[in-house]
Amino acid sequence: MTGPQRTEPIVVVAEQCDEGWELCTGAAGHFSAARLYPPGAWQEQLHEWLGGIEFVDVRAVVLLIAGGDGREYPVTEALLPFPIVSFPRQLALAAFAPADWSAFAVLDGQAGGKCGLVTRSEAGRFYYAESAADDACLAACNFGFWRVVAAGSAAAAAFQCVERVPAEARLAIGAARLAVDALAADGVCRNESASRPQLRLARRRSAGYDIIHTERVFDLENDCLAQAVDGRPVFFAVDVAVLKLYGPGMRKYAKAKLRHCAFATVRSGEASKSWAQVAYLCRQAERAELPRDGIIVGVGGGVTLDVAGLAASLYHRGAPYLRVPTTLLGMVDVAVGIKHGINFKGRKSLLGAFYPPIGAINDFAFLQTLPGSELSNGFSEVVKLGLVRDSLLFRWVEDHGERLVRTGYQDPAEWAFRIALRAEYVMMADLHPNLYEKDRRRFPDFGHTFSTAIEEATRFAIPHGEAVAADMLLATIIANRRGICAEKVLERLVALFGALDLLKVPQACNGEVLAQALTSARLHRGGRIHMVVPRRIGEGAFLDDVTAAEACAALDRAVNICAAQRRRFASAGD
Ligand SMILES: NC(=O)c1ccc[n+]([C@@H]2O[C@H](COP(=O)([O-])OP(=O)(O)OC[C@H]3O[C@@H](n4cnc5c(N)ncnc54)[C@H](O)[C@@H]3O)[C@@H](O)[C@H]2O)c1
Ligand SMILES: [Zn+2]
Repeated sequence: MTGPQRTEPIVVVAEQCDEGWELCTGAAGHFSAARLYPPGAWQEQLHEWLGGIEFVDVRAVVLLIAGGDGREYPVTEALLPFPIVSFPRQLALAAFAPADWSAFAVLDGQAGGKCGLVTRSEAGRFYYAESAADDACLAACNFGFWRVVAAGSAAAAAFQCVERVPAEARLAIGAARLAVDALAADGVCRNESASRPQLRLARRRSAGYDIIHTERVFDLENDCLAQAVDGRPVFFAVDVAVLKLYGPGMRKYAKAKLRHCAFATVRSGEASKSWAQVAYLCRQAERAELPRDGIIVGVGGGVTLDVAGLAASLYHRGAPYLRVPTTLLGMVDVAVGIKHGINFKGRKSLLGAFYPPIGAINDFAFLQTLPGSELSNGFSEVVKLGLVRDSLLFRWVEDHGERLVRTGYQDPAEWAFRIALRAEYVMMADLHPNLYEKDRRRFPDFGHTFSTAIEEATRFAIPHGEAVAADMLLATIIANRRGICAEKVLERLVALFGALDLLKVPQACNGEVLAQALTSARLHRGGRIHMVVPRRIGEGAFLDDVTAAEACAALDRAVNICAAQRRRFASAGD
């Protein structure tokens, strides 16, 4: 047998089956067919293979897939010092998913009904959570994991999109592909096939952060912030309006529970998302002698969190960053992801960074002082997720949104919590496999194709949430005109926007702006528009061929819908 190429990780797979062991070996792109070895003979076979390979620049791995009887494997010692990776059998199925599936369920009908939910990161790495068959199906349906890789499972019939593992494909080979991918991604190696001497460093970027929920974060009895800060010096970047309302409490808290605190303000409003404001924060942090391991804490809405986050990503080439959002939009949208942007040359979010924070502390008590219109703006991003990702979330906002806007997001308290938490979860589940947005097809971009141009055309006079709502209305009308979504979907969206006071089309929104938006979207998303539209409540689709004429026609209808709504209100008021 000739060995695989030397610079690639070598994988040997051993899978237990009723008749003995299935073995195969290989590296990326070429695997031997799995062969059956009767019990007892397989260890010698492994030694023969591994002994024949010169392990220079090669990371070798033996991959073991758990057999049905739960027996211990007697190989670990025999094969040291080579790293051993083991996967559950079900995860090997994941390798059979089409490359563009980022979230799906695997059902392994041959392994005692075990199932799992799998997400794939943009680096191609799989994350797997095992669960009992029924739970997996339920969770899969609930959170839009409607794609399934199935091996001999009847339950898979319930799903809309099933990739069946063909009988001749061996699970072992699927698992080997996984291991090769996992190993190829990280490490330093010499590329011997290159014409000049060449070393390659590869490291996957990883991120992990917590969204903590608490009440009254600056109460002296509340340890949440002090624990997150963990004794490090703190630099607070605070929205000016928030500082006015909460400043005394913050300062008291800082004095009692934190050490070395400094404060700087961020002016309210989109104009603050500027290079000058970022530079100002960095200057103030330097003046306060914030060390490299000090923490920058952003306290405010999306504007403050964006500016403070970008400053944190630059200060000392990256200082730890914690977010304390004080708007609904900040909590359910900004604080959930890793993006920080400022406007530049009149262009929305032209400069920015992907920079994972250490976390966020969400405290709904802040929302009591937030004007109702700002709560509506926050709901705009919640409706976005509900409409294309999660029908339950959409229904919950239909049932409770209006009341929550009227009560400063306090009543009904149970639903305030459930809606925010679910919105955060749905968003995180969508971001997780594509955190750095390598894949330009993103459901969270629903409402963000026309909105950017609309914001720019108004010179950022219109709130972000309002522009997103107008965009969603246009996209839904386009989908409805094409027969992609039913009239009923549009009706429900219009009714919900009416209740949340989001049914508006800004004056500045005209044919030219919409055409410009389509051009920019194409540039921003790698040559395609990838416009998200609803298919039905809770399910979205992507369109790449929307024309300016279509957008204009949608605008006419949107303007008519809004006018009709105003007339209805006026006559109800008479
Ligand atoms: N980085 C991201 O991933 C991301 C995602 C979505 C939106 N954004 C950005 O977020 C911004 C919008 O955020 P926003 O809607 O939170 O707006 P915002 O930050 O402008 O805040 C809205 C207003 O509410 C005030 N305010 C904030 N908290 C308050 C409180 N508790 N009580 C009283 N007043 C309060 C502010 O002073 C401001 O006037 C936009 O610039 C948008 O581009 C960023
Ligand atoms: Zn947004």
